[in-house]
Amino acid sequence: MFSRIIIEICFGEDLEDILLPIERSDGSVLHLSIANSLRVTFQDLFLKAGHPIRAFVDNLWRFALNAEERQTRRNALLIRDFITKYIRDRVAGKNKSSVKENADLLSHLLANEYFAERESLIVDEIVDFFIASTQTTANGIAHLLMKMVQNPHCNKQMVEEIQNVIIEPYLEEEKPAGDKVDIKAAFAPERVENMEFFEKVFKEVLRLDPAAGQALAPRVMTRDERLGQVNLRKGDTVMVHYWGTHHNPEEWQRPSEFLPERWDPKSPLYLTPKGTKRHHYSFTPFAGGDRVCFGKTFAAYSSKTVASIILHSFDFEFVDKKWMNQTPWFNIITSYDEVVHVKATPKM
Ligand code: HEM
Repeated sequence: MFSRIIIEICFGEDLEDILLPIERSDGSVLHLSIANSLRVTFQDLFLKAGHPIRAFVDNLWRFALNAEERQTRRNALLIRDFITKYIRDRVAGKNKSSVKENADLLSHLLANEYFAERESLIVDEIVDFFIASTQTTANGIAHLLMKMVQNPHCNKQMVEEIQNVIIEPYLEEEKPAGDKVDIKAAFAPERVENMEFFEKVFKEVLRLDPAAGQALAPRVMTRDERLGQVNLRKGDTVMVHYWGTHHNPEEWQRPSEFLPERWDPKSPLYLTPKGTKRHHYSFTPFAGGDRVCFGKTFAAYSSKTVASIILHSFDFEFVDKKWMNQTPWFNIITSYDEVVHVKATPKM
């Protein structure tokens, strides 16, 4: 559902009925929506990027090394061709945005002078926006739900907060017939934003495994600079290791543990092990500076809404109990090979 909304934000239309034939490595062809085609192909591309030889040879990502990679490239080109044709049809007036005031991403890009004659860049921006928003949010929510199953006392506190901050005020203010909870009305933004405990849990989840990946996309130095003991030269490529800063034992007490209370200013865990305030950049799940995550407010709000509705509606248990003590990676380079199966029981 979330990726369907993002597709509408990107194109100004719900394209769920359009299916693309995506090849899989077992020889099958899946007919997938644009959102799912992007998701699956992006996953394949990440696997390709992770091929060990690419760590040693620069620019090898441009080439397909085997039949599977050639297949991924065909899938990626198919998606790009679809988007390119869609853009041309929009310019020719064959499709139009149904979003109020043409506030969709494509309309904005087409109206921007910089993108005139840069059709391929518009495709890049749309794909980038889709991946940046969906893979991150989905992983953040999935990780949070997993932590709730692993930590029943936190889950209890979360469910109590949903009851106190959302359900009861809703029943009192809107007095629905028979006290029947209309999820859409109850989980309205003005109530959802009062979920303080949720915020602590979500921050802790993003600290443990930054949903955008363990490291920031590479940056190229525009001038010489000295960073600590290291001399960086203009043209050098630098990456920030989020995971490292999020687990730095000089900044965080018991860094590998899931402790949402460390976000409570009244808790002793709020401070560094030396008892000082944590560094401003010790926690950067949305990066920072000019290239800070464009959707960080939307991400926080949509995650709160989606995850709290799920927690309000279902109880979960792991099918394989080993997951009570193990957590797979939950970020955009996550491979879906290792699936965590849960049994979901509706609450009512
Ligand atoms: C939990 C959810 C999310 C996390 C953790 C997250 C994190 C990040 C991070 C770390 C970056 C910087 C990447 C880099 O430069 O290396 C980024 C960029 C970006 N994010 Fe998010 N993001 C999330 C959700 C979203 C959502 C919901 C949207 C859109 C609605 C979004 C849109 C973007 C865009 C467009 C960029 C590129 C910005 C630029 O380079 O100018 N993100 N995000």
